[in-house]
Amino acid sequence: MIKSNPFTPQSGWEPRVFGGREQELAEFRSNLRDAISVRPNHLVVLGEWGIGKTSLLKQFRRMAQEEGNPACFCSISRFTKKDRPLDAIHLIAEEMLMGFPGLNADSEKLLGLFSKKKSPLQAQTQFTKFLLELWKAQDAKLAAVFLDDLQNLLPISNTIDILRAVLSKDEIIRDTRFLFILSSTPAGWSAFLDKHDPVGRFFRKRLSVENLGKQDVINTVEETLEDTGVSFDGRIKERIFEYTNGHPYEVQLLSNHLYDGQIEGRVTEGVWENALNNTLKELGKDYFNTLLAKASDRERYLLKILAEEKRPLSIKDFRTMMIVGRHARRFPIANIKNFLYRLQEKGVVRRDQDAGFDIPDRMFREFVLKFVRT
Ligand SMILES: Nc1ncnc2c1ncn2[C@@H]1O[C@H](COP(=O)(O)OP(=O)(O)OP(=O)(O)O)[C@@H](O)[C@H]1O
Ligand SMILES: [Mg+2]
Repeated sequence: MIKSNPFTPQSGWEPRVFGGREQELAEFRSNLRDAISVRPNHLVVLGEWGIGKTSLLKQFRRMAQEEGNPACFCSISRFTKKDRPLDAIHLIAEEMLMGFPGLNADSEKLLGLFSKKKSPLQAQTQFTKFLLELWKAQDAKLAAVFLDDLQNLLPISNTIDILRAVLSKDEIIRDTRFLFILSSTPAGWSAFLDKHDPVGRFFRKRLSVENLGKQDVINTVEETLEDTGVSFDGRIKERIFEYTNGHPYEVQLLSNHLYDGQIEGRVTEGVWENALNNTLKELGKDYFNTLLAKASDRERYLLKILAEEKRPLSIKDFRTMMIVGRHARRFPIANIKNFLYRLQEKGVVRRDQDAGFDIPDRMFREFVLKFVRT
C-alpha cells in the first residue's frame, strides 16, 4: 500500500524529516548553555521567504524544552499603522502565558498588569512588570521566547525598540532569565535598524538561514520517503537539487508533486515535466507573480533575456545584444542601465561581484521562461 503524500509544502509546517542545519543547531545549543551560565544573548534568525525560519525556530524550541527550559512560541501576525505597540506587546504577553506551563492560576493577575491606555512608555513599563512577575511564577533556570515573523511589526516598528529597552533594563537582566529568539526577513530587519539604530547594537547575535546543501537535500528526500512505498530514481533526486538549489520550500513542493506522479511506487524521468509545471504554477501564486508584478514591461523584456541566456550578463552584454541581433532596437540602450538597477533594487535580479546581473533562483528562471510573454 502506498502511503499518503509525506511532503509538507506549507509555510510553517514542520517537515516530516528535518534536514541539515547541524551547525545552526549546535550554535543554538551553545547559546542555551551560555544563557544559563553567563547571560542570555538574544538571537535574531534571518532568512528569505520559505527558507525554513519557522521550522528552525520550532526545532530550537524542542531543544530548549528537552533540556528542561520552558519555551513559548509566538507567530507575530500582521499589524497596521492603526495598531499601537501595546497591542503587539499584549499579544506577546498572552502567548507567553499560554505557552509556559503551569501558569493558569496566575494568568489573570499577570494580564491585569496591562492597562488599556496606550502610550509607548506604558507599554515599556507594563511589559517590564509583566516579565518580572512572570519570572517569579516560573520555576526554571531559563525560559525561551520565540517571536516568529517580526517583519510583521514594521508598521509599528517602535515595538521592537520597546522590546530592546525592556530587555536591557537592569532589573530584567538581574532578576530574570529570558532568552528571546526572533525571526525576520533580512529586509524587514534592516528596516528596523534604519529606524531605531540601538536595536542593532542590542540584538547583536544573528544567524542567517540559507539553502540546504546537496547531500542534505538528497538525504531528506530519501528519509521522507521511507516506509511510504514510493521511491524516486537517482536522477530525479539529483534534479530536485539542481532546480531548487536546496531551497527548503521548493524542495518540499517539487517533491510533493513528484510523489503524486508515482506509478507503481516509482518516480521516474517521465513524471518530471508535469511535476515541474505544477510546481512552477504554485510558486507563481505563492511568490513569483508578486515578484514579476514589480517589473515594468521593458524590465520584463530584460528579465526574459537573462532567463534565456542562462548566465550572468553585464550592462555591456545587454547593450551589445540590443544593437545587433534579434533584440536590436527594442528600446533605447541608454535606458538599460536604469532598468537593471531597478530590477536589482526590487529583488528581481541579483548582481554578482563581477558586475554581472543574474536571476537569483533557478525556479524563478524556469518560471520566467515558461510564463513571461514579451
Ligand atoms: N530543515 C528542513 N528540512 C526539510 N524541510 C524543511 C526544512 N526547513 C523547512 N522545511 C520545509 O520548507 C518549507 C518552508 O519552511 P518554513 O515555513 O519553516 O520557512 P519560513 O522561512 O518560516 O517561511 P515563511 O517565509 O513562509 O515564513 C516548509 O514546507 C517546511 O516543511
Ligand atoms: Mg515562517
